[in-house]
Amino acid sequence: MDNPDHDALRRMITADFTVKRVESLRPAIQSIVDGLIDSIIVDGSDFDLVSRFALPVPSHVICVFLGAPLEDQGFFQERTRSLIDRASTPAETARASIDLRGYARELLDTKRRMPTGDLTSRLSVLVQQERLSDIDAVEIVLSLIVGGHETTANMIALGTLALLQHPEQLARFRAGTEPQEIAGAAEELLRYLNIPHIGRRRVALADIALDGSVIQAGSGVIFANDIANRDPRAFKHPDDLDIRRHAEHHLAFGFGIHQCIGQPLARVELQVAYETLFRRLPGLRLVSSIDEVEFKTDMINYGVWSLPLSWNRG
Ligand code: HEM
Repeated sequence: MDNPDHDALRRMITADFTVKRVESLRPAIQSIVDGLIDSIIVDGSDFDLVSRFALPVPSHVICVFLGAPLEDQGFFQERTRSLIDRASTPAETARASIDLRGYARELLDTKRRMPTGDLTSRLSVLVQQERLSDIDAVEIVLSLIVGGHETTANMIALGTLALLQHPEQLARFRAGTEPQEIAGAAEELLRYLNIPHIGRRRVALADIALDGSVIQAGSGVIFANDIANRDPRAFKHPDDLDIRRHAEHHLAFGFGIHQCIGQPLARVELQVAYETLFRRLPGLRLVSSIDEVEFKTDMINYGVWSLPLSWNRG
């Protein structure tokens, strides 16, 4: 969707994603993360980080954010997976997309009948007031469900793996307990891992002069944010993971009008998840060799399918 339509829709939900609003959710996010770590601790010292932590954290948070029932997590995780799997057949992608749109529509209907003060309830009021079309409301809820859990889950799992694979960085991470140090580490992990590893595709609407060349109107453009995040003109020694570099100008959340609206929420989730995981599970380590870890090379977002870890019980 292009402007002006895109901005008009985006404005309907920008207030929900201000840093202030998202910061007010930090205690709730901390409590979700602590609850998941509690259950890992109860169950023993070996666990799969993806299914027990990385995927449940953002799935639970997006349910709270949208006012969706927690028991629906499996439903939308499975459909999102089909939607972004490059190996899905067109029929599978269409099925997943129909199911998710149906789900979003039902959630909006439920909130219209029984509003609960969340974002979805507010959207259904806007629909009733005819300030937002029914179809657009469904698209907003859908984009938040799909964009709001799988990306962050991949970052939690891959970021943990990257720290485990760089013991000197992990030691620095454990030593830096100030909020800005944890936030800085999360930014560097976002830059270094750049999980949306398929370039954003665009079409130039006008001739664009860029760095001595011209992109002709009508040309296809691939905005390779993964390559930009490893540009030595922007980051010294870009292939090194350095959690104390200031990487805040990375492009892992995109750039321009479609830049990730959920980034403040993702940031808080990542900060809380990494900090709590390494603080509460001492001696966290990979159970298998790195060669046995299965990476998501065939998905739109990079990640791992599972990550068997162990930790030292006291
Ligand atoms: C670490 C986690 C995340 C990463 C790396 C990420 C990355 C991105 C990127 C690169 C884009 C730009 C797409 C483009 O230019 O075409 C984007 C857009 C978007 N993201 Fe995220 N995202 C994350 C988390 C989230 C969360 C938590 C939410 C919602 C709760 C979310 C919702 C969205 C939405 C709705 C868009 C479309 C925005 C628009 O078109 O205006 N994302 N994301």
